[in-house]
Order: sequence, then structure tokens, then C-alpha cells
Amino acid sequence: TTGVTLTASDGERLEFGCAPGQSVLDAAAEAGAALPASCRRGTCGSCRAAVTGGPYEHGSCSPQALPPDRRERGEVLLCRTFPGGDRLEAALPYPSSRIIHGGVPEREGVITALETVARETVRLELRVEPDDAAGDGCQFDPGQFMDLRVPGQDYTRAYSLANTGNWEGCLEFFVRLRPGGLFSGWLRDGARVGDRLTVRGPQGAFGLRETGPRPRWFVAGGTGLAPLLSMVRHMAEWQEPQPARLFLGVNEEAEVFGLPELKAVACELPGFSYEICVRRPGPSWPGPPATPVDRVAALLPDAPVPPDLYVCGPPPLVEAVAGAAAAGGLAPERVHHERFLPT
Ligand code: FES
Repeated sequence: TTGVTLTASDGERLEFGCAPGQSVLDAAAEAGAALPASCRRGTCGSCRAAVTGGPYEHGSCSPQALPPDRRERGEVLLCRTFPGGDRLEAALPYPSSRIIHGGVPEREGVITALETVARETVRLELRVEPDDAAGDGCQFDPGQFMDLRVPGQDYTRAYSLANTGNWEGCLEFFVRLRPGGLFSGWLRDGARVGDRLTVRGPQGAFGLRETGPRPRWFVAGGTGLAPLLSMVRHMAEWQEPQPARLFLGVNEEAEVFGLPELKAVACELPGFSYEICVRRPGPSWPGPPATPVDRVAALLPDAPVPPDLYVCGPPPLVEAVAGAAAAGGLAPERVHHERFLPT
């Protein structure tokens, strides 16, 4: 058995044993600590960490989840990391608050709003049951997600939270309805206000980093807006001073959503601005065709202070933005992302 020590970004340490052939992620779970993870098979990148000491083997993984140059520098995916000696030490890129002890909390929520906000896109609002034993409303960090399950069904879907932690137990999501999707099909045809869902979380490592006064740029593809909206809403609530700009990319005008929410943030948060980028705009759209990738590529070279970049959306968008950032001279550690993987 290997003695594993993981150090979170706030300095808290987690120690546990890892059996031969066991991944660090599984060993932590066996010891009662659920680390941020999603796919558990090397494709999403949400279990990234950096080994600081000790030998290990790394299983195969997607190069998008962990680019080869990062792997060479000692970064790993904990779901694919198998210790090979007596001790293994690694640094986690998130604070200890993201580690869940004693199992991921699960509770009942009731649908309080369900509305179409754009083509194939709905806003789903849930209220965690008021008689919830924890009695703490719902606290979470911007960037985290919840697993949602329809009672009586055995499939769950992960959706990022778009609002911020609150005492009322209110959870807000933006869901893209996918053709043939089980959860999408239920939302489209069966779900009604008052229906119940099982809510599991909050979970996930994606979130704002404490990086001082550096500007923050947010890049969303479609419903990838949700966790970034949570982040800028959090910045507005706390009147955080970093200049912030957000780019929302969609293919067509009919897919634009989130404007009232973005306008509200712009009113409350000085130094925040946003742009809607429509790849194939119709004649009534007031601007030229644009994508967030083009905008980042065009603006980055002239940025007086290189920003931190927060990106969320489908993997091709995340990869393209990361590529534009690298071409613009932004260090890879300034790019933080969450990839929405197809289920
Ligand atoms: Fe390890 Fe997805 S959980 S890469």
C-alpha cells in the first residue's frame, strides 16, 4: 500500500492509503473523500492534479483532458494515476472545500420554474425541499455542478449551476435539449412545475481562482454560460474588483439566451461587459458574424494585462479557445476550463 498525501490549494492535506492497482481517485473515495471527478476514465480532465513526489504509472487518457506537455511536467489525472512506491504526494488545483467527505449529499428538489429561453434551451429552477435535514438552503461555489435524476429512473445528468449559493435552497440551470436525450426528452415532454427531482451535489473543481487584480475573461459556448454566469454573479454580489468581460458564442440568433441575466450583472458590477457572438447571424442581427474564439484571438494581443481565462462549453470550443490563448501568448495555467462532454 502506498501512503498518498494530497495538498489542496488552501494548504489542507488529505492522507490515505492506496492499494496496488488502485487509482488515487478510487483510493480517496474508499477512504471517504470524494474528489472532483466526472468521467472517471481519463476523458473529462476534472480530476487533474500535479504530482510533487513519488513514482507512479499513468494510464492512457485523452490528450484534451491532459495535454502531453502538461503530462511531462508532472500533471496527472487522478483517475488514471497508480502509485508505484511507498509514498506519493500531489498538489490539487482547488481548495479543500471541493472535497466531499462522507458521500455526495443527495436531496429532493421540486421544479419551481421551467421555461424555454431559446431554441432547444430551457431554464430549469428547482427548490430544495424546505424540510431538508441540513436546513442550510443550498450552498455551493460558482462553477460547480449537480447531478439530476428523475425519481424512478436510473439515469443522471450533470448540469452546472447558474445562480449562486443561497439560503432559500434555489438552484438554477440552463439545459440544452438534445435530440434523443433521455433527460432532455423528459424535460421537453413530461416535466411540469411541481415535479420532483433528485439532486446530488454540489460537485466539481471548476471555479474562480484567487489571482489578485488580474482581469478575468469568460468564454461560453451555448449553455456553457451557466457556470460562468454563476461566477460573474458571484463577482457582482461580492463587488470583486477585477475587470471582467464575457463572450457568449452561439451558432444562430435563435439560440441566444441569458441576456436579462447578463444585463443585470452589467448593471451591478462595474468593469463588467459582455458580447454575444453569433456565428451565422440572420439579417436582423445587429452585428457581423463572430465567434468567441475569433474575439479572444483578436483582443488578447492588445490586452494591457494578460487575463485569466475561464472557458466552458463543448470540447471543440474549449480546445479552440485554449489554442487561441496559447497563440496569443497566454500561459496554459491562466486557462481554466470545464468541458461539456456528450453523454
Ligand atoms: Fe478523471 Fe474525468 S474523472 S479525467
